[in-house]
Amino acid sequence: MPRESYQTAKFMIVDDEIANIRVLEHLLDAWDCPNVQSTTDPTQALALYSQFQPDIVLLDLMMARLDGFGVMQQLQTVIPEHDYLPILVLTADVTPEIKHRALALGAKDFVTKPFDIAELSLRIQNLLETRFLHRQLQNQNAILEGRVEERTYQLKIAEIETIECLALAGEYRDDDTGQHAQRVGITAARLALHIGMSPPEAELIQRAAPLHDVGKIGIGDHILLKPARLTMEEFDAMKAHCAIGHQILSRHHTPLLQRAADIAHCHHERWDGSGYPQGLRGEDIPIEGRLVAIADVFDALTHERPYKKAWPLEEAATEIQNQSGRQFDPRLAETFGSHLESICDFSLYPES
Ligand SMILES: [Fe+2]
Repeated sequence: MPRESYQTAKFMIVDDEIANIRVLEHLLDAWDCPNVQSTTDPTQALALYSQFQPDIVLLDLMMARLDGFGVMQQLQTVIPEHDYLPILVLTADVTPEIKHRALALGAKDFVTKPFDIAELSLRIQNLLETRFLHRQLQNQNAILEGRVEERTYQLKIAEIETIECLALAGEYRDDDTGQHAQRVGITAARLALHIGMSPPEAELIQRAAPLHDVGKIGIGDHILLKPARLTMEEFDAMKAHCAIGHQILSRHHTPLLQRAADIAHCHHERWDGSGYPQGLRGEDIPIEGRLVAIADVFDALTHERPYKKAWPLEEAATEIQNQSGRQFDPRLAETFGSHLESICDFSLYPES
């Protein structure tokens, strides 16, 4: 009978007449199909299936204790949802009613007893061919899904790396390590987790927050690097970095860049409405902007700048509380103060 690949197929035979099993085993042996397991006890069929994982089941229908219908009912509970397991029913009784019932329970084909050997061989071949094609298709699907997953992962990494480069470019003139930007991302993400945001949302904020000052690319060095407090005019010019950052980032539509655009635009808004560039108030300020506002100010206070020394951590933490309800969202300020040690990675604050 079979083509070579069928010789590797695993055959399971369930028939309560040992003589019938011997006939089938003899035929399969003659066809060089060595992987055969049989049982005359239909109540053992389920266990045999689970242990043997056959490619095809040759199933007698009329058996004592548990008939072929009962065996098929049991098998349906363990056959994987997307698997194609051919069940070839062997029966002397092929009335339409029997056929309909067997088909409904998962039978794929019938062979009447006594067997026509040629017919039996051809029906087994057909069923196994379908089984193997189905499995081949599933393997190909799995390979394709794996490739799509790998490609998606590579694209995500590429996006993250591009954004890290962009953040570094934005910070390069006054922090050539980009550490401020990274610290702000980490602190904002930890604060986000403490107020109950999901880990994926917090991760998005961690990745997006380092771009908060990317608009500084458009600010002149005489303002950005001035080793003294800015004049009112200079400060007004500096404020433009929010709109510039938003312009750079808002043309793109990935969730990461959308968050980054919002953060760039809103991280200098203040809870009491006195911030810039839009003068948004309270919860009208996007939550990611409110989170980064605290992380940015805390990090700026605790690190040296051209015009000031680093503040001690305690004084900076007190300043965040002093600005609660003015500059900062009171709920975020309170959470920040209550969980300072787990939100701020003090190993990242060497100057304090
Ligand atoms: Fe800023």
